[in-house]
Amino acid sequence: MSQQILLLPGDGIGPEVIREAQKVLTKVISRFNLDIQMGSALLGGAAIDAEGVPLPESTMQKAKAADAILLGAVGGPKWDEVDRAIRPEKGLLGLRSGLQLFANLRPAVTFSQLADASSLKKELVAGLDILIVRELTGGIYFGEPRGIRVLENGERQGYNTYVYSESEIERIGRVAFEAAQSRGGRLCSVDKANVLEVTVLWREVMDRLAAEYPDVELSHMYVNNAAMQLIRAPKQFDVMVTGNMFGDILSDAAAMLTGSIGMLPSASMDINGKGMYEPCHGSAPDIAGQNKANPLAAILSAAMMMRYSLGLEEIACTIEKAVEQALDDGYRTVDIYTQGHQQVNTIEMGDAVTRIVATI
Ligand code: IPM
Ligand code: MG
Repeated sequence: MSQQILLLPGDGIGPEVIREAQKVLTKVISRFNLDIQMGSALLGGAAIDAEGVPLPESTMQKAKAADAILLGAVGGPKWDEVDRAIRPEKGLLGLRSGLQLFANLRPAVTFSQLADASSLKKELVAGLDILIVRELTGGIYFGEPRGIRVLENGERQGYNTYVYSESEIERIGRVAFEAAQSRGGRLCSVDKANVLEVTVLWREVMDRLAAEYPDVELSHMYVNNAAMQLIRAPKQFDVMVTGNMFGDILSDAAAMLTGSIGMLPSASMDINGKGMYEPCHGSAPDIAGQNKANPLAAILSAAMMMRYSLGLEEIACTIEKAVEQALDDGYRTVDIYTQGHQQVNTIEMGDAVTRIVATI
């Protein structure tokens, strides 16, 4: 039976970058004669506009039936005023939790061609290759109770709950230890154990797991220090594991080390390796519809999808090589442009990768 990919273009620059990734996928599917079918569905603001909710039941059904999902981005100022319960982001969070995609892998790799596009000194980022493992279906993003309430004195108070159960910590910990085993053998667990009890437990569980992975060297770091170290000396890290909110923040910081958040793919997996793949950059409403966005994070997300959910390692490598080749050939979208290169738009970058993928 053919494998099914579900495309969820979403909002903002999502549809623009997914269109380019789809072009590359269509090319590899025909060139390598792969038995893969692609369909699409609405998510986020696009779904609110069409159906009144950010995650329609039909999208959820298609997502459950698919072997893998490639998502663009959700959200934008157009939906800022809608009821909080149906904001576009709820669609994404609902999909992550509904499919139990608890393990978010965010590799921050600095392509040698782009070392001078980073806002950090070249020697700090050249050769960077770190993996952030972010817990994605728990923590303060999902904890109950939550809301905005009115106190007795009439003042309003916002509140959220930061919770992690031992089994949730252990589950993401194992993913991170195994990732470290297959890479440089070093794992840094990021917490705030000097203040937050939930992360005291986090640290305890990581320490307990370490005994089962003697080939991995585990260290711990407070999140504030980790933010500083990422900017000060990022190459000290191999794999980092952390909770949902800290991972959201640190992965944006790590993205900038690579030159642009427009280069960062991600994978969100369930316990069986089924996954949803998305660029880390979000919907970037300020440049949406202008054919300016960098489609490489979406294209690299498609490569990760081939590798992790469809078992097509060689195809993944082919797509990644094509991206490298496009950079070698000097193509740069505006976010990664440096002097001496050829500035291209979203479609031209997608065309370049599609052309190269047909020949290598
Ligand atoms: C991300 C995004 C999302 C998150 C938003 C859009 C809800 O920032 O994927 O990192 O915070 O998880
Ligand atoms: Mg984020």
